[in-house]
Amino acid sequence: MLKVISVVGARPNFMKVAPLVEAMKRRELEFTPLVVHTGQHYDWNMTDAFIRDLGLPKPDLFLNVGSGSHAAQTAAVMERFEPVVLSEKPDWVLVVGDVNSTLACALVCVKLGAKVAHVEAGLRSRDRTMPEEINRVLTDQIADLLFTPSRDADENLRAEGIPHERIRFVGNIMIDSLFSQLSRSKESRIRETLELSSRDYAVMTLHRPSNVDEQDTFAGILDALEEIAARIPIIFPTHPRTRQRITDLGLRERIEGIRGLRLIQPLGYIDFLNLYSHAQLVLTDSGGVQEETTVLGIPCLTLRENTERPITTELGTNTIVGTDPLKIVAAAFAALDGSKDVTHQVPPLWDGHTADRILDALS
Ligand code: UD1
Ligand code: UDP
Repeated sequence: MLKVISVVGARPNFMKVAPLVEAMKRRELEFTPLVVHTGQHYDWNMTDAFIRDLGLPKPDLFLNVGSGSHAAQTAAVMERFEPVVLSEKPDWVLVVGDVNSTLACALVCVKLGAKVAHVEAGLRSRDRTMPEEINRVLTDQIADLLFTPSRDADENLRAEGIPHERIRFVGNIMIDSLFSQLSRSKESRIRETLELSSRDYAVMTLHRPSNVDEQDTFAGILDALEEIAARIPIIFPTHPRTRQRITDLGLRERIEGIRGLRLIQPLGYIDFLNLYSHAQLVLTDSGGVQEETTVLGIPCLTLRENTERPITTELGTNTIVGTDPLKIVAAAFAALDGSKDVTHQVPPLWDGHTADRILDALS
């Protein structure tokens, strides 16, 4: 019987941990799951909504670290996670994704000699100004086992000198959650609530510091949105960082003046899935949303200069458009005109069975 701690901290961690915990409960003779929530995210609609929608048990431990600078937040997670590992003595700790909680908990484990595995290893944007890129590179250097979502990730790890025995290509864990919730999402009433009919709207998410912390970049994106929203309504569930920056950068009046751009609160998993899966177009800078739209065949424009998920552009429906307003508008209009090719393939092993492959490798 293996005791396994799974760490959640920020919104995109819940959809990666839920299928693992569900699989461990199914395989109860082999695994005892414990869930530790660092509290990096804490608003109801950034945490509890996902625990509810994904059927996760209430976390066994809540570390309550909250927001802070990178150093303060990473240090707080480390200080509060260390006693947990010392007292629980897990056989494995699973960290997922690329947020500060991921690196902090991996670092605690390696210093204590506790075995740690990284789920969603090997992704690289090659942009070290991105905080997540630092978290990815460092977590992959120190974790004992690296579970990759795609073959390009294996190659990235080998190029960094990581021996192949530490690398396991298992597929994309987020897609386990996507497939398990797809039929339930059909019951969501979110489009009725927002008074939308199928495919007559676009959906946008935006929260990368390079987009929303930079006045000129954010203002340029708003210029592009103004033109796109004149043609199709854009529903914008607004991340708390972005909401804060809109105020800090004095952009509230400008954004509220854009007709057709509708800011709403962040949505839970089921409502958001229902919303974007019926959209004509998705605009995003999210990592996870690039993957989910690829699997469902929804045209996706990524407002970034790079992606750590190149398979979504090679096989999927994702296009990297950058942040130049003219390019964003041209790409959006091409997609709305139907001139964007949306033939797509689901990448290998993005099949809903990644959690079991991970557990097989741990046992
Ligand atoms: C974090 C991750 C990012 C991930 C994103 C997912 C890091 C470095 N960044 O970015 O990789 O894509 O989560 O959503 O780990 N805030 C709230 N309520 C909350 C959470 C945050 O109001 O529940 C506000 C606070 O003002 C906070 C700010 O958002 O300072 C940023 O939060 P933080 O966790 O530091 O980074 P994110 O931008 O959310
Ligand atoms: N998501 C959601 N509600 C929203 C916005 C996003 O449920 O209002 C989901 C989305 O479907 C995906 C995950 O949150 O599963 C992505 O998280 P986020 O964009 O915060 O982080 P990233 O993937 O960029 O690290």
